[in-house]
Amino acid sequence: SKPSQPVVLIAEKLAPSVVSVFGDEVEVRHVDGTDRAALLKEVQDADALLVRSATKVDAEVLGASGKLKVVARAGVGLDNVEVPAATERGVLVVNAPTSNIVSAAEHAVALLLAVARRVPAADQSLRGGEWKRSAYSGIELNGKTIGVVGLGKIGQLFAQRLAAFDTELIAYDPYVSAARAAQLGIELVSLDELLQRADAISIHLPKTPETKGLIDAAALAKTKKGVLVVNAARGGLIDEDALADSIREGHVGGAGIDVFVTEPTTSSPLFELPNVVVTPHLGASTAEAQDRAGTDVARSTLLALRGDFVPDA
Ligand code: MLT
Repeated sequence: SKPSQPVVLIAEKLAPSVVSVFGDEVEVRHVDGTDRAALLKEVQDADALLVRSATKVDAEVLGASGKLKVVARAGVGLDNVEVPAATERGVLVVNAPTSNIVSAAEHAVALLLAVARRVPAADQSLRGGEWKRSAYSGIELNGKTIGVVGLGKIGQLFAQRLAAFDTELIAYDPYVSAARAAQLGIELVSLDELLQRADAISIHLPKTPETKGLIDAAALAKTKKGVLVVNAARGGLIDEDALADSIREGHVGGAGIDVFVTEPTTSSPLFELPNVVVTPHLGASTAEAQDRAGTDVARSTLLALRGDFVPDA
């Protein structure tokens, strides 16, 4: 590498598209972002830091850096990056806000269908040597009321896909107008009304102080008996213990959960329940989404390192 080249530190496994966009304009180094000591050491010489969701870019990491100009998040959520602390130091934070929205929406659909038709449990049973057709009877989505909590980019994509199942779509989102929702064929309702009417609820919100614990025990108590609940957004939007209790009591009918309060995790009260389908934060884990995220953040990083304007993706 040439001495004048900026150093780009990649702290998580990213798609090969990242390195191809950089070409030989930067020196690429790698570190395991979850190894705190290694990260604090390597970030000292980095001009740019590239992460996914496992690396916590907080004031300590930013403070350890000597010449950092940009932190790039190869994905949507910025909840693992302390944006104000970065801004204070003049470090630009970029993300790839549209890279994985289709993948996230498709995964929520996959979880809902998997729960409704009990696909993983039936699969496990059959592989275990049982042929139990009556034990794995499911429900149709056709004609059901689907409640979308959060009608942003991902929530809208999810709703559009569910429309093909001839469902009735209702949504709660304080930042979207009823007229806009109506254009999409969705009835905008209050959260309480959504909880009361929905046969299945899928949540598509960022995690903020306002949204944390939004679906708690009190909210779940308002839902219809047998409701299916999906969370491919962020752990903690739905209170995991309250959800597990409600399923155990036979109120919530089942859940498809991709995200957890603590990640990584190998234990949750939900893991012991039969009508729950879980995946380890795979919403964005497709070849297409990772490729896009890699390309988008590498492009933004290059612009930022050259001192050019970085447009919103
Ligand atoms: C995101 O915010 O983009 C997702 O959580 C996906 C990821 O973990 O990269």
